Amino acid sequence: MATKSLKVNGKRVSITIDDPEMPLLYALRDNLALKGPRFGCGLAQCGSCTVHVDGKAVRSCVTPLSSIRAGQKVVTLEGLGTPQKPHPLQKAFIEEQAVQCGYCINGMIMESAAFLASNRNPTEAQIKQALANNLCRCGTHARIVRAVKRAANA
Ligand code: FES
Ligand code: FES
Repeated sequence: MATKSLKVNGKRVSITIDDPEMPLLYALRDNLALKGPRFGCGLAQCGSCTVHVDGKAVRSCVTPLSSIRAGQKVVTLEGLGTPQKPHPLQKAFIEEQAVQCGYCINGMIMESAAFLASNRNPTEAQIKQALANNLCRCGTHARIVRAVKRAANA
């Protein structure tokens, strides 16, 4: 058993682990009860587990805990906004009713948030390109793209 210190959603937390190579996703969901990031493929292929590490979108299912340094800032969907003060993307996804089953939506929002931080006025083609590796089995892509555009314009 070992102790791992992380900074998640602005708070310093400490978790007990028995495998330092455990995926970050497991620590977030199982140790810290943050259920925003989802387990989809476990192979970096769907994007449903996406979180930010120092502002960069990463696939937490293939990110070993050992690769996260204590000073790095991990942000999950829960840390992006609150029900009282949602992130513009969270608001836009509701306004566009861009969610069907919802499984992919964590990844769509987290990937888009990192993308919009560096591109504040993207074209539709750029949004599609940014989300090209995030899979949605429900086929709600058109609404997702509209939601990202709406958030960019907000
Ligand atoms: S669960 Fe991580 S990319 Fe699919
Ligand atoms: S809304 Fe169901 S997988 Fe995207």
